[in-house]
Amino acid sequence: MSRTPYIAGNWKMHLTKRKASSLARDVAEFQGENPACKVAVFPTFLHLDYVRRNLKGSNVILGAQNCYGKKEGAYTGEISPYMLRDMGVKVVLIGHSERRHIFGETDTMMSDKVKITLRAKLDVMLCVGETLEERESGKTFAVLARQLRALKVVKTSQAERVSVAYEPVWAIGTGKTATPAMAQEAHAECRRLLGDILGAQAAATIPILYGGSVKAGNAAELLSQTDVDGALVGGASLSIHDFGPIIDAATA
Ligand code: PGA
Repeated sequence: MSRTPYIAGNWKMHLTKRKASSLARDVAEFQGENPACKVAVFPTFLHLDYVRRNLKGSNVILGAQNCYGKKEGAYTGEISPYMLRDMGVKVVLIGHSERRHIFGETDTMMSDKVKITLRAKLDVMLCVGETLEERESGKTFAVLARQLRALKVVKTSQAERVSVAYEPVWAIGTGKTATPAMAQEAHAECRRLLGDILGAQAAATIPILYGGSVKAGNAAELLSQTDVDGALVGGASLSIHDFGPIIDAATA
Protein backbone atom coordinates (compact mmCIF):
# COMPACT_ATOMS: atom_id res chain seq x y z
CA MET A 1 0.00 0.00 0.00
CA SER A 2 1.64 3.24 -1.03
CA ARG A 3 0.93 6.30 1.05
CA THR A 4 1.76 9.82 -0.16
CA PRO A 5 4.65 11.21 1.91
CA TYR A 6 3.56 13.92 4.35
CA ILE A 7 5.95 16.57 5.70
CA ALA A 8 4.64 19.01 8.31
CA GLY A 9 6.28 22.02 9.90
CA ASN A 10 5.27 22.88 13.47
CA TRP A 11 6.31 26.49 13.95
CA LYS A 12 5.29 26.42 17.66
CA MET A 13 5.44 29.84 19.44
CA HIS A 14 7.95 31.33 17.01
CA LEU A 15 8.21 34.08 14.37
CA THR A 16 6.61 37.49 13.84
CA LYS A 17 3.81 38.09 11.34
CA ARG A 18 6.38 39.34 8.85
CA LYS A 19 8.73 36.37 9.33
CA ALA A 20 5.85 33.89 9.25
CA SER A 21 4.57 35.43 6.00
CA SER A 22 8.00 35.27 4.45
CA LEU A 23 8.57 31.66 5.54
CA ALA A 24 5.14 30.76 4.14
CA ARG A 25 6.17 32.28 0.79
CA ASP A 26 9.42 30.30 0.87
CA VAL A 27 7.61 27.01 1.56
CA ALA A 28 4.96 27.78 -1.08
CA GLU A 29 7.62 28.53 -3.66
CA PHE A 30 9.61 25.42 -2.78
CA GLN A 31 6.60 23.12 -2.85
CA GLY A 32 4.56 24.71 -5.64
CA GLU A 33 1.85 22.28 -6.65
CA ASN A 34 4.04 19.21 -6.35
CA PRO A 35 1.57 16.34 -5.85
CA ALA A 36 4.28 13.84 -4.86
CA CYS A 37 4.41 15.07 -1.25
CA LYS A 38 1.83 16.56 1.09
CA VAL A 39 3.28 19.56 2.91
CA ALA A 40 1.60 21.36 5.81
CA VAL A 41 2.63 24.24 8.05
CA PHE A 42 1.32 24.95 11.53
CA PRO A 43 1.86 28.62 12.48
CA THR A 44 0.59 30.16 15.69
CA PHE A 45 -3.13 31.12 15.62
CA LEU A 46 -2.36 34.82 15.27
CA HIS A 47 -0.38 34.29 12.08
CA LEU A 48 -2.85 31.95 10.35
CA ASP A 49 -4.39 34.57 8.11
CA TYR A 50 -1.04 36.05 7.03
CA VAL A 51 0.29 32.59 6.29
CA ARG A 52 -2.86 31.62 4.41
CA ARG A 53 -2.49 34.61 2.09
CA ASN A 54 1.16 33.81 1.44
CA LEU A 55 0.51 30.15 0.66
CA LYS A 56 -1.78 31.03 -2.25
CA GLY A 57 -0.82 29.42 -5.53
CA SER A 58 0.70 26.38 -3.81
CA ASN A 59 -0.83 23.22 -2.45
CA VAL A 60 0.76 23.71 1.01
CA ILE A 61 -1.83 22.86 3.64
CA LEU A 62 -2.63 25.37 6.40
CA GLY A 63 -2.71 23.82 9.86
CA ALA A 64 -3.40 24.99 13.43
CA GLN A 65 -1.42 23.82 16.45
CA ASN A 66 -4.39 23.17 18.71
CA CYS A 67 -8.12 23.78 19.22
CA TYR A 68 -10.73 23.46 21.93
CA GLY A 69 -13.04 20.45 22.08
CA LYS A 70 -16.32 22.40 21.76
CA LYS A 71 -18.08 24.16 18.91
CA GLU A 72 -18.71 27.47 20.74
CA GLY A 73 -19.57 28.89 24.12
CA ALA A 74 -18.22 30.60 27.23
CA TYR A 75 -14.64 29.32 26.99
CA THR A 76 -12.48 32.42 27.41
CA GLY A 77 -9.23 32.28 25.50
CA GLU A 78 -10.06 29.12 23.54
CA ILE A 79 -10.52 28.58 19.80
CA SER A 80 -13.08 26.32 18.13
CA PRO A 81 -12.26 24.21 15.08
CA TYR A 82 -15.25 25.86 13.37
CA MET A 83 -13.46 29.21 13.77
CA LEU A 84 -10.31 27.64 12.36
CA ARG A 85 -12.21 26.38 9.35
CA ASP A 86 -13.62 29.87 8.86
CA MET A 87 -9.99 31.14 8.72
CA GLY A 88 -9.06 28.69 5.97
CA VAL A 89 -7.40 26.07 8.18
CA LYS A 90 -7.52 22.50 6.84
CA VAL A 91 -5.84 20.40 9.55
CA VAL A 92 -5.46 20.60 13.33
CA LEU A 93 -2.63 19.20 15.42
CA ILE A 94 -4.13 17.46 18.44
CA GLY A 95 -2.32 16.22 21.53
CA HIS A 96 1.15 17.54 20.80
CA SER A 97 3.40 16.49 23.67
CA GLU A 98 3.83 20.11 24.73
CA ARG A 99 0.04 20.36 25.13
CA ARG A 100 -0.02 17.15 27.13
CA HIS A 101 3.03 17.73 29.30
CA ILE A 102 3.27 21.51 29.76
CA PHE A 103 -0.46 22.29 29.73
CA GLY A 104 -1.74 19.09 31.31
CA GLU A 105 -4.15 18.11 28.52
CA THR A 106 -5.72 14.70 29.08
CA ASP A 107 -6.71 11.81 26.81
CA THR A 108 -10.38 12.65 27.37
CA MET A 109 -9.76 16.15 26.06
CA MET A 110 -8.07 14.62 23.00
CA SER A 111 -11.06 12.54 22.03
CA ASP A 112 -13.37 15.59 22.38
CA LYS A 113 -11.00 17.55 20.13
CA VAL A 114 -10.79 14.76 17.55
CA LYS A 115 -14.57 14.43 17.45
CA ILE A 116 -15.36 18.15 17.06
CA THR A 117 -12.54 18.78 14.59
CA LEU A 118 -13.75 16.03 12.28
CA ARG A 119 -17.31 17.26 12.69
CA ALA A 120 -16.08 20.72 11.60
CA LYS A 121 -14.85 18.99 8.40
CA LEU A 122 -11.17 19.55 9.19
CA ASP A 123 -8.40 16.96 9.18
CA VAL A 124 -6.84 15.74 12.41
CA MET A 125 -3.17 15.03 13.08
CA LEU A 126 -3.08 13.21 16.43
CA CYS A 127 0.30 13.23 18.19
CA VAL A 128 1.32 10.34 20.41
CA GLY A 129 4.55 9.31 22.08
CA GLU A 130 6.16 8.11 25.28
CA THR A 131 8.42 9.91 27.77
CA LEU A 132 11.94 8.62 28.45
CA GLU A 133 10.79 7.17 31.77
CA GLU A 134 7.94 5.31 30.06
CA ARG A 135 10.32 3.94 27.41
CA GLU A 136 12.86 2.81 29.98
CA SER A 137 10.21 1.04 32.02
CA GLY A 138 8.92 -0.84 28.95
CA LYS A 139 5.63 1.06 28.72
CA THR A 140 5.97 2.51 25.19
CA PHE A 141 3.36 0.28 23.56
CA ALA A 142 0.92 0.75 26.45
CA VAL A 143 1.24 4.52 26.14
CA LEU A 144 0.63 4.38 22.38
CA ALA A 145 -2.43 2.19 22.94
CA ARG A 146 -3.83 4.60 25.53
CA GLN A 147 -3.21 7.72 23.46
CA LEU A 148 -4.51 6.26 20.19
CA ARG A 149 -7.80 5.40 21.90
CA ALA A 150 -8.73 9.07 21.24
CA LEU A 151 -9.42 7.86 17.68
CA LYS A 152 -12.25 5.57 18.82
CA VAL A 153 -14.64 8.43 18.05
CA VAL A 154 -13.65 8.43 14.35
CA LYS A 155 -16.34 7.13 11.97
CA THR A 156 -15.30 4.95 9.03
CA SER A 157 -16.19 7.72 6.58
CA GLN A 158 -13.89 10.15 8.48
CA ALA A 159 -10.80 7.95 8.66
CA GLU A 160 -9.34 9.41 5.46
CA ARG A 161 -9.05 12.76 7.27
CA VAL A 162 -6.87 11.37 10.05
CA SER A 163 -3.10 11.19 10.36
CA VAL A 164 -0.93 10.23 13.33
CA ALA A 165 2.40 11.70 14.41
CA TYR A 166 4.58 9.46 16.56
CA GLU A 167 6.84 11.76 18.57
CA PRO A 168 8.83 10.25 21.42
CA VAL A 169 8.83 13.03 24.04
CA TRP A 170 12.53 12.53 24.77
CA ALA A 171 13.38 13.29 21.13
CA ILE A 172 11.46 16.56 20.79
CA GLY A 173 13.72 19.60 20.66
CA THR A 174 16.56 17.67 22.28
CA GLY A 175 18.67 16.80 19.26
CA LYS A 176 18.18 13.09 20.16
CA THR A 177 16.38 11.18 17.43
CA ALA A 178 14.96 7.70 17.65
CA THR A 179 17.02 5.33 15.54
CA PRO A 180 15.27 4.34 12.29
CA ALA A 181 14.68 0.88 13.80
CA MET A 182 13.11 2.33 16.95
CA ALA A 183 10.88 4.58 14.85
CA GLN A 184 9.84 1.67 12.63
CA GLU A 185 9.00 -0.51 15.63
CA ALA A 186 6.78 2.18 17.18
CA HIS A 187 5.14 3.03 13.84
CA ALA A 188 4.36 -0.62 13.13
CA GLU A 189 2.74 -0.88 16.56
CA CYS A 190 0.71 2.30 15.91
CA ARG A 191 -0.48 0.81 12.61
CA ARG A 192 -1.44 -2.44 14.34
CA LEU A 193 -3.38 -0.47 16.97
CA LEU A 194 -5.07 1.60 14.24
CA GLY A 195 -6.20 -1.70 12.73
CA ASP A 196 -7.83 -2.67 16.04
CA ILE A 197 -9.50 0.71 16.42
CA LEU A 198 -10.49 1.63 12.85
CA GLY A 199 -10.10 -1.54 10.81
CA ALA A 200 -7.55 -2.87 8.35
CA GLN A 201 -8.41 -0.55 5.45
CA ALA A 202 -7.98 2.62 7.53
CA ALA A 203 -4.82 1.30 9.18
CA ALA A 204 -3.23 0.67 5.79
CA THR A 205 -3.96 4.16 4.49
CA ILE A 206 -3.54 6.48 7.51
CA PRO A 207 -0.19 8.31 7.28
CA ILE A 208 2.03 7.94 10.35
CA LEU A 209 4.61 10.72 10.63
CA TYR A 210 7.71 10.62 12.80
CA GLY A 211 8.65 13.66 14.89
CA GLY A 212 11.49 14.55 17.22
CA SER A 213 14.67 16.33 16.08
CA VAL A 214 14.12 15.51 12.40
CA LYS A 215 16.57 17.42 10.21
CA ALA A 216 18.00 17.27 6.71
CA GLY A 217 20.78 14.92 7.85
CA ASN A 218 18.56 12.19 9.35
CA ALA A 219 15.30 12.55 7.39
CA ALA A 220 16.11 10.20 4.51
CA GLU A 221 17.00 7.28 6.77
CA LEU A 222 13.92 7.71 8.95
CA LEU A 223 11.65 8.12 5.93
CA SER A 224 13.02 4.97 4.32
CA GLN A 225 11.34 2.84 7.00
CA THR A 226 8.26 0.93 5.82
CA ASP A 227 5.80 2.49 8.23
CA VAL A 228 7.31 5.99 8.42
CA ASP A 229 5.19 8.00 5.98
CA GLY A 230 6.44 11.47 6.77
CA ALA A 231 7.83 13.82 9.37
CA LEU A 232 6.50 16.39 11.81
CA VAL A 233 9.33 18.88 12.06
CA GLY A 234 9.78 21.55 14.75
CA GLY A 235 13.10 23.41 14.87
CA ALA A 236 14.15 22.52 11.33
CA SER A 237 10.87 23.82 9.86
CA LEU A 238 11.71 27.45 10.69
CA SER A 239 13.95 27.96 7.68
CA ILE A 240 13.48 26.75 4.11
CA HIS A 241 17.19 25.88 4.01
CA ASP A 242 16.54 23.22 6.64
CA PHE A 243 12.94 22.33 5.73
CA GLY A 244 13.35 22.13 1.94
CA PRO A 245 15.83 19.24 2.01
CA ILE A 246 13.44 17.30 4.28
CA ILE A 247 10.69 17.66 1.67
CA ASP A 248 13.20 16.54 -0.97
CA ALA A 249 14.16 13.52 1.18
CA ALA A 250 10.51 12.47 1.29
CA THR A 251 10.20 12.43 -2.48
CA ALA A 252 13.65 11.09 -3.38
P1 PGA B 1 11.62 19.20 16.94
O1 PGA B 1 10.06 19.27 17.28
O2 PGA B 1 11.74 18.83 15.48
O3 PGA B 1 12.14 20.57 17.23
O4 PGA B 1 12.22 18.14 17.83
C1 PGA B 1 9.15 18.34 16.75
C2 PGA B 1 7.75 18.64 17.27
O5 PGA B 1 7.61 19.03 18.43
O6 PGA B 1 6.75 18.48 16.55
